[in-house]
Formats: sequence, structure tokens, C-alpha cells
Amino acid sequence: MKLFISFEGLEGSGKSTQVGLLGSRLKEEGIETLVTREPGGTRIGELIREITHGRENVDLTGVAESYLMSASRAQHVREIIKPALTANKIVVCDRFLDSSLAYQGYGRELGEETIWQLNTLAIEGVLPDLTFFLDVSPAMGFARRNGTKKIDRLDLQQKDFYQRVYEGYKKLAEKYTERFVVIDGTKSVEEVAGIVWEQVKSKIKNQRSNTHIKE
Ligand code: TMP
Repeated sequence: MKLFISFEGLEGSGKSTQVGLLGSRLKEEGIETLVTREPGGTRIGELIREITHGRENVDLTGVAESYLMSASRAQHVREIIKPALTANKIVVCDRFLDSSLAYQGYGRELGEETIWQLNTLAIEGVLPDLTFFLDVSPAMGFARRNGTKKIDRLDLQQKDFYQRVYEGYKKLAEKYTERFVVIDGTKSVEEVAGIVWEQVKSKIKNQRSNTHIKE
């Protein structure tokens, strides 16, 4: 079963919890699944993550940050995502290209198109089949993650930065309706997981009927 699923949203949207839950559910169903994240997911990607998240790196420019995210993605697609899809696995990824479009394109105001172009080499034509956007406003996201994790460089951005990222995500969801599923992230963990599972199940069913594999 070849399927690429990404989760997107602001910090505090509950995305990582849902990535974990979906990964476990798929494995319970006996479906070969790979759970991964960006930036990171590879040795080099994790090194890049140390730079992008390091609190001391306040001098990192928006352009350099964009290249680093894209470099991490290039390594990730080549080493992890493509081989897993080729091996007919389901890939569940905590953030992918849309994070760059939202954070660097809109948040840093470098432009969606510019960031898309900067990522074309990195993604090697690989795009998610399904993208869950967990819709939680910046204010709610802030409130939720307060005290729950170590504050990193990206948490130190101004409020208007997160507002632009949030608006950016909404634009992306409206533009790429064929793969985006917007879920009200203020619902309970169980409710969100239920909606996610229904969507994934129907995608799997469709794929199976397209490839004429019996359930
Ligand atoms: P997270 O692992 O807590 O989601 O943190 C990832 C951070 O990196 C988050 O602030 C969003 C940011 N990010 C970008 O700015 N651009 C990207 O392309 C990716 C993948 C993440």
C-alpha cells in the first residue's frame, strides 16, 4: 500500500500526537508503515534540525532557514521517503513541503512561489497524497504548548509571524483541495483521530480498488 500522508499545523495543534496515533493504528492493522518528521528524519536532517531549532541561532536569516529546511527535505526524500514508497509502505510524516510554504513563504514573507521553486529539486516530484491540516489558531496553539515543551528558536517568533503562517496554511488548504483535509484541532484527541482514520481508510480503499487488490 503506497501512500504518503503528511500532518501540518501550528505548534500546539496536536499534530505530533496524531502522527503517533495514526502510525500505531496502521501498524496494528498490519500495514507496513513508516513514521517520520521534518526537519530531521535522517542523520543529516537531524543535524540541520539542531541548527534550525538552536536558541542561540537567532542570527539565522529567513533565506538560510529556507535552504536548510529544503536541504533536510532533500536528504529525507532521497534516503527515507522515496525508498519507503517504492517498497509500498505508508509514510506518515510530521510536516513536509507545506510547512516551508507556510513558515518561510508566508511567515517569513519570502513568497509561496519562491519557496516552491526552492524545493523542486528537494522533493523529486514527491508530494503527499493526503495532508491533514489541524486547524488551531495561533492564540490557542500558544496556550496549549505553554509549559509542555522546551522553548526553541522557532518558538521565539513574534505573534504576527504565527498569524501569517496560519493564514498561509488556510490559503494552501483552499488551493490544494484534492489532498488537504482541514480538521478542527480544538476537538478532542479521540475525535480528531477518528476523523483522520476515516479519511485514511477511504483513501486505502480507493487505492485498493484502483489497483484491483482485494481487501
Ligand atoms: P516541530 O517539530 O515542533 O513541529 O517543529 C518544527 C519547527 O520547524 C516548527 O516551528 C516549524 C518549523 N519548520 C519550518 O519553518 N519550515 C519547514 O519546512 C519545516 C519542516 C518546519
